[in-house]
Amino acid sequence: MRTWMASRPWATFVVLSALCTHGSLAQIEDPASLVNMFIGTTNGGHVFPGATLPHGMVKVGMDTDSPGNQAGYDADPTYNAWGFSQLHDQGTGGGVSLSNFKIWPYASCPNGDSFAACPTAEENRKVLRATLPDGSPDDVASPGYFASNLSTGIRVELTATRRAALHRYTFPEGTVNPRILVDITNDGQQSNTNPIMTLNSTTARVVGGADFQASFGPQRYRVYTCVDFKGDGYDLSEPREYGAWINNNAVNQSVDIEQMYFGFRNELGALLTFNPNPNGTTTILVRAGVSFVSVDQACANAEEEIRTYDFDVIQAAARAEWNELLGRIQVDPTGVDNDTVSLFYSSLYRIHVVPADYTGENPLWNSTEPYYDSFYCNWDTFRALYSLLSLHDPLNFARIVRGMINIQQHEGWLPECRGSLTQLYVQGGSNGDPILGEFMVKYYEQATELNVSSTDLYSALLADAEVQPPNWNLVGRQVNIWKSLGYIPSDVWEPSGTNTKQVSRTIEYAFNDFAISQVARIIGNTADASKYAQRAGNFVNVWNPNVTVPGRDDIVGMMQPRFLNGTWNYTDPRHCSPNDPTQSTCYLTPTNVDGFYESSPLVYVPQDGAKLVELQGGVDAFISRLNFLIDDNYFDATDEPSMQIPFMYNYANAPGMTTVRAREVITDHFNLSVSGIPGNDGAMGTWASFLLLGLYPVPATRQYLLSSPWFPKVSFYNPVFNSTTTIIANGFEGNPTNGTGQIFVQNVTINGEIWNSTCYLDWSAFEAGATIELQLTDDANVTCGDGPQALPPSLSTGGFD
Ligand SMILES: *[C@@H]1O[C@H](CO)[C@@H](O)[C@H](O)[C@H]1NC(C)=O
Ligand SMILES: *[C@@H]1O[C@H](CO)[C@@H](O)[C@H](O)[C@H]1NC(C)=O
Ligand SMILES: *[C@@H]1O[C@H](CO)[C@@H](O)[C@H](O)[C@H]1NC(C)=O
Ligand SMILES: *[C@@H]1O[C@H](CO)[C@@H](O)[C@H](O)[C@H]1NC(C)=O
Ligand SMILES: *[C@@H]1O[C@H](CO)[C@@H](O)[C@H](O)[C@H]1NC(C)=O
Ligand SMILES: *[C@@H]1O[C@H](CO)[C@@H](O)[C@H](O)[C@H]1NC(C)=O
Ligand SMILES: *[C@@H]1O[C@H](CO)[C@@H](O)[C@H](O)[C@H]1NC(C)=O
Ligand SMILES: *[C@@H]1O[C@H](CO)[C@@H](O)[C@H](O)[C@H]1NC(C)=O
Ligand SMILES: *[C@@H]1O[C@H](CO)[C@@H](O)[C@H](O)[C@H]1NC(C)=O
Ligand SMILES: *[C@@H]1O[C@H](CO)[C@@H](O)[C@H](O)[C@H]1NC(C)=O
Ligand SMILES: *[C@@H]1O[C@H](CO)[C@@H](O)[C@H](O)[C@H]1NC(C)=O
Ligand SMILES: *[C@@H]1O[C@H](CO)[C@@H](O)[C@H](O)[C@H]1NC(C)=O
Repeated sequence: MRTWMASRPWATFVVLSALCTHGSLAQIEDPASLVNMFIGTTNGGHVFPGATLPHGMVKVGMDTDSPGNQAGYDADPTYNAWGFSQLHDQGTGGGVSLSNFKIWPYASCPNGDSFAACPTAEENRKVLRATLPDGSPDDVASPGYFASNLSTGIRVELTATRRAALHRYTFPEGTVNPRILVDITNDGQQSNTNPIMTLNSTTARVVGGADFQASFGPQRYRVYTCVDFKGDGYDLSEPREYGAWINNNAVNQSVDIEQMYFGFRNELGALLTFNPNPNGTTTILVRAGVSFVSVDQACANAEEEIRTYDFDVIQAAARAEWNELLGRIQVDPTGVDNDTVSLFYSSLYRIHVVPADYTGENPLWNSTEPYYDSFYCNWDTFRALYSLLSLHDPLNFARIVRGMINIQQHEGWLPECRGSLTQLYVQGGSNGDPILGEFMVKYYEQATELNVSSTDLYSALLADAEVQPPNWNLVGRQVNIWKSLGYIPSDVWEPSGTNTKQVSRTIEYAFNDFAISQVARIIGNTADASKYAQRAGNFVNVWNPNVTVPGRDDIVGMMQPRFLNGTWNYTDPRHCSPNDPTQSTCYLTPTNVDGFYESSPLVYVPQDGAKLVELQGGVDAFISRLNFLIDDNYFDATDEPSMQIPFMYNYANAPGMTTVRAREVITDHFNLSVSGIPGNDGAMGTWASFLLLGLYPVPATRQYLLSSPWFPKVSFYNPVFNSTTTIIANGFEGNPTNGTGQIFVQNVTINGEIWNSTCYLDWSAFEAGATIELQLTDDANVTCGDGPQALPPSLSTGGFD
């Protein structure tokens, strides 16, 4: 496997320039300078390295002709660039999403630089990027900014506001006919129908739109753009040549193009030739507004958000917004490898790329509530992402929750997977439930202040829990049989959804109901709290105590598929794991007969740690199984269901093992290279952030499981509480790579008071703003503590109060 070091020369000096010292307290003032945007941009990471605001709708970036261009870009320089489009997603699998409305510059065209000879179709116009001496592409990026030097000698720079992009194309000296193409139809899947386009030859404004296929679902969406041009430092005047292009034919026209209507699936758009700058370098600014509502709104968005075409001002504003957000979590880099600091801020950056704030851009219904999109998918993010937002970004979290409730009010069920305003495929349960649960557990007292209606939120949860949808492949759950049977049987076929993933859905439905029980308790509905807590325990209904791993009789008891009559089917516990001896069927396909989704019977880890310890025969067997999972390669770092596994040792009173295993994940699976994440980035940024902070959440509870931080000090600023919580690791001596050393937590104090567990922290410390001191030791045999509160809470031990 080829890798390209994405770290740039600047990466070694940015730490210094980013650090300012106020007395003895080092403060990272410019965390954006520590973000390496290229991590995970090849080999299936599907990371978007282009320009966006935090949770911005517009994500403007390079599109390459690579097979894995789910986020547009590929860092492998052998792939060509063929456009700079305004909309992307981040970290998705599935089909290539969005990638709409590419802009493309030409320094010259064939046949004596003729307009009609310009190659316009994607396959014909594409070119390589320039490369650096180390072989990597000559691309740079930082939060809110992306730049590339194309092999044609054109320099491309991109920046963004929420709903508009600003491109800056600098042409090589001597360019006679600087040309720019606007591509209306080529999305990531070449799926357009019903395109429209208008070109005004006086203003050079190009507007257009089309219908496109959603990436991971059956529906289509319509989106519009509005593109304007301006000379950078010179008067661009009217375009010298202009016209439409279809496929690979550009036609020089002499009249405006008005509402051209084209057939199906042609490649088409506009091509314009501008005047070069007679006084110096030719640099052309391209402003592209986007809207899902109308062409007029696409133009209005551009005009409102980018009035003056001042690239540097727009870029600086984007960077300032990123710095304010990233700077809320401060890590003390003293004694820490620079790469580790960069890995932390790069990971934290990526958790704020999606979901995206489409407020004002929802054509489906009228509402003044926020509208967020690009949930890819709640199945990926419910485990950890929102518990990270709880720590430092409750304002975006609250708006996302409001948007989800609003969707439920109009469509009947909370979104599960959602993109380009359509319902995408459900992978497991209704995992909006734990996201709303996480919000209520942490912010119930502030809900009104944050404009979240607790009543509407609870109604939304009950819809998921009680009302069977017309198609549970798109929203909601197969809830009728869940309510009557307490598990999803393998041999019941209903018309309103596919009969697959039954075991995974059982486990997730149980966790969904756990989240609802948590909310019910908080709002004082004790009847519902106990009803849903009971349903939350239903995962035991698919626990078959007699199944073993072939060749390992000591690993006994497994989640297994079960029939309506209570008897069991059998799925080889190795299926769907990295050690699968056969062709697994653990994906969305209707041919999935294993009963699991992207996870083996061995690695599924629900919320009730204590119950799992009991079912597996006690702490020794439990630890032994965890060791087996990790050492024998059943732990799958590429996929979200494994994320909690390294922290499960805490439930067996062995936090030293958690610390060793959690640190191994970073050492073995994360780095700053373009292949530096183990799987696609649905949750990898969240996971790395938590692993480096020494924490891992139990979502929809007040608990964060504890390992140990990779920094001597970390602090969290919470803008709702206006409080800062600092975790200090006393005795920190750096981060040994061999799993031994002064890295284990011996005892914990909070504001100087003894805290009774070294295995978890409670939200109360983060709520009030506290100083949490961890005393580190080199003794790997530390325990959680002695008292009744030492072990982390579990459902079956009644601990979540
Ligand atoms: C880390 O950054 C600091 C501050 O810029 C610098 O002095 C040091 O040399 C860097 N260390 C490494 C290993 O690059
Ligand atoms: C083109 O733009 C100019 C200037 O705004 C305007 O006067 C003219 O009506 C437009 N042409 C068309 C066909 O809309
Ligand atoms: C070139 O510079 C001259 C002198 O400053 C100025 O009058 C003219 O407008 C400039 N041309 C363009 C196209 O900006
Ligand atoms: C939203 O309100 C406007 C103005 O009343 C109306 O024209 C439009 O049809 C409404 N849109 C939807 C989707 O209901
Ligand atoms: C039982 O499991 C086998 C093996 O995975 C599978 O072929 C069969 O379809 C399953 N039966 C049902 C009813 O799900
Ligand atoms: C497991 O095996 C024991 C002993 O053979 C048997 O009594 C029990 O019914 C089995 N349980 C299941 C769920 O098959
Ligand atoms: C239970 O159901 C399964 C699948 O439909 C069937 O193969 C099996 O014979 C049934 N067992 C009993 C005891 O009814
Ligand atoms: C936030 O807290 C700081 C001190 O911790 C205080 O100076 C500031 O006034 C507070 N801001 C608000 C809005 O309460
Ligand atoms: C582990 O690494 C540390 C330095 O990082 C070293 O001091 C220690 O001796 C090593 N221990 C083992 C067992 O290799
Ligand atoms: C924590 O451990 C340190 C070092 O062993 C010890 O000095 C201190 O007394 C301990 N504190 C508590 C609260 O147990
Ligand atoms: C720690 O446990 C003791 C004994 O159970 C209890 O009295 C004390 O309140 C606990 N401290 C905290 C911070 O919960
Ligand atoms: C940890 O426990 C193991 C066996 O339980 C023992 O061999 C080892 O010496 C202990 N390590 C320390 C540092 O006490």
